[in-house]
Amino acid sequence: MALRHILSTEQFLDSNLLLRVFALTDRFAKAGRRGKLPKPLRNNILASVFYEPSTRTRFSFEAAMLKLGGQVLSMESALHCSSAMKGESLTDSIRVIGGYADAIVLRHPQEGSAAVAASVSPVPLINAGDGGNEHPSQSLIDAYTIKQELGTLKGLHVAFACDPLHSRTIRSLALLLSGFPGIRFTFISPPALRMAPFMLARLRSRGARCEQSGDLRVGVNADVLYMNRLQKERFAGVKEFQKYQKKFTLTAPMLKGKQVLVLDPLPRIDEIGTDVDALPGAAYFRQAKNGLYVRMALLDLLLAARR
Ligand code: NCD
Repeated sequence: MALRHILSTEQFLDSNLLLRVFALTDRFAKAGRRGKLPKPLRNNILASVFYEPSTRTRFSFEAAMLKLGGQVLSMESALHCSSAMKGESLTDSIRVIGGYADAIVLRHPQEGSAAVAASVSPVPLINAGDGGNEHPSQSLIDAYTIKQELGTLKGLHVAFACDPLHSRTIRSLALLLSGFPGIRFTFISPPALRMAPFMLARLRSRGARCEQSGDLRVGVNADVLYMNRLQKERFAGVKEFQKYQKKFTLTAPMLKGKQVLVLDPLPRIDEIGTDVDALPGAAYFRQAKNGLYVRMALLDLLLAARR
């Protein structure tokens, strides 16, 4: 079935679709390195509409669109700079923007907002983060990077730290990987920031073994250690956030003699010391670079592959 919108990684539990994304990503990465990218998105416009801050997601979607021959309409700080400031609803804005663009990438602070926006969007919509809920394109980048670095997505032990309760990238990646045989997860956090019970139930119902821990050292023995900053903006207040600040910082001495692949969707705040960057397992900047090609694949799937 043709993909209409990208809202959740659950849409990619169909491994044929995931393989298609990876194959297209490989194709674009190879062509990109040779400076020979095709222009399948010529005559298409992408609107990127961001109600929350972004560096990688917005730029890599926009760069992907431009490099494949398309054009971009870009709105950052949409909460303050769009008609949202005048009181326009998200659904009205999306209806209107969908009349100008051929696809929309949306980031919004409210959980579930992407699905609501997609329900009225006349064009394909990509969820680039809806509050603490999901961030599917990031997880496709994460999974592609794991496959590239370790050669497989099967039978892995993946540890996630520091804020599984609020992190949409941890949630989305765990959902995506839960479909793979032999998968084992360890969620590492202070007790108050543990993965939500309903999520654990969902992951376990797919056969994933899930454990929780308060000790970051457990993570360095996994195959993959997925770090993500404390999600400051999702805490009730600064005081609440400060209780947990700097509780988990991965440093080079902790990784001595370990083989673990270290990922982070970035931005890195204080969850990974800069002394880790030079280690061979530190893959987060390669992961960010992969974002360009994975997002090319997604735009191509939604726009060019439909024709
Ligand atoms: C992530 C996000 O927005 O959820 N950023 C990103 O897209 N690479 C991670 C984060 O902000 O912590």
